[in-house]
Amino acid sequence: MSKVKLGIIGLGNMGQVHCKLVSSLADFELTAVADHVSERCAKMQARYKVTAFDSGAKLIASGSCDAVLIATPHYDHTRLGCQALRRGCHVMIEKPISVDKLDALRLVKAHDNPRQIFAAMFNQRTHPAYQQLRHWIQSGEFGAVRRVQWTITDWFRTQAYYDSGDWRATWAGEGGGVLLNQCPHQLDLICWLFGLPVSLYSQCSFGKYHHLEVEDEVTCLLNFEQGATGVFTTTTGEAPGINRLEIAFDEGLVIYDSRDDFITSIRNEKSVTQAIRENAAFEKPATTEVRLPVGGDGGQHRAILANFAAAILRGETLISPTSDGLRSVELANAMLLSGWTRKAVNLPISARGYRTRLAHKISGSTFERNVRTAGVVDMDDSF
Ligand SMILES: NC(=O)c1ccc[n+]([C@@H]2O[C@H](COP(=O)([O-])OP(=O)(O)OC[C@H]3O[C@@H](n4cnc5c(N)ncnc54)[C@H](O)[C@@H]3O)[C@@H](O)[C@H]2O)c1
Repeated sequence: MSKVKLGIIGLGNMGQVHCKLVSSLADFELTAVADHVSERCAKMQARYKVTAFDSGAKLIASGSCDAVLIATPHYDHTRLGCQALRRGCHVMIEKPISVDKLDALRLVKAHDNPRQIFAAMFNQRTHPAYQQLRHWIQSGEFGAVRRVQWTITDWFRTQAYYDSGDWRATWAGEGGGVLLNQCPHQLDLICWLFGLPVSLYSQCSFGKYHHLEVEDEVTCLLNFEQGATGVFTTTTGEAPGINRLEIAFDEGLVIYDSRDDFITSIRNEKSVTQAIRENAAFEKPATTEVRLPVGGDGGQHRAILANFAAAILRGETLISPTSDGLRSVELANAMLLSGWTRKAVNLPISARGYRTRLAHKISGSTFERNVRTAGVVDMDDSF
């Protein structure tokens, strides 16, 4: 195989961006697209001279693609992903890999042929800032992680955004709100950097800033295995908002604020553990501050797609294998579970128990979605 024949399923905001990106990558040949909305198919068919199908299932069954990219609403990720794997395709799946842990387990289990490449679109893993932080954590550059604080409140969304698709922001259509749509990236990065927390307690607000039934504000306390603690705060109802990650280590403090093109690192000349033991009553350890330039965004979606093709064609190691996506689904589910029950939750959670609660949310929903605009919301095409 010299090029990967790719089919894209779901031609909304993200699917259209993906069509453009893969068309610019030499390792791909975009051969097919699929969407229930015929105008979207026609538009992509005319632009990229591809075969179009009116459903993802038909595209997969056609056998016309070596690989498929699934960019549909969340509940279809599991079903289409399993179908594509059974058909022998390589698969790239948009985040979140599934809505709940039970589906995520089913999806990951369906990948039983290691020759099939199965990747997830966790594009923020390519960002040099997060790569640097991961390197420091793994190499022990600043000693053990003691505390983490991530404030990610720059996911601002308007009511028009939520009303732009009838699947959005309902338990039945999307399976959650900010935790399932915007934050899978940060939840994945939390697990990638620090591991899955062992317990958490969250306060979730449902429809606090928008007319919707799912969570649009969350503050969560986290406990990690090695004793580190964390606070994670997110919302789609704040502007300008901020994306600021602060990591307190035994030997310093590291801060990344996405508005800056540098990471601030403040190194303790003596570890906190040692200083507590040895120093005078109020004597903090001396510090040295360094601002490390970040430089670019690491390629994001384009880099993940290029890596997917390189994994298929040349055996390159995947940046974001789908099996990793299980943890961010579990974390999102656990945060919601804690928000619903107002109780601390230990991880891992019961997949069946969570499914039962989600099913109650769906069956008990009285939310009437008033879809005022049905069309593709304008998104920044630049990423
Ligand atoms: N990685 C990122 O940065 C990023 C950004 C935005 C969205 N996303 C993800 O991309 C996915 C799609 O989001 P979106 O904003 O593009 O949604 P969207 O509503 O704009 O588009 C979804 C499209 O899928 C089509 N569709 C639904 N079921 C289908 C099926 N069975 N077969 C074929 N087509 C089907 C719909 O008709 C629609 O055109 C979601 O998983 C979302 O979380 C990822």
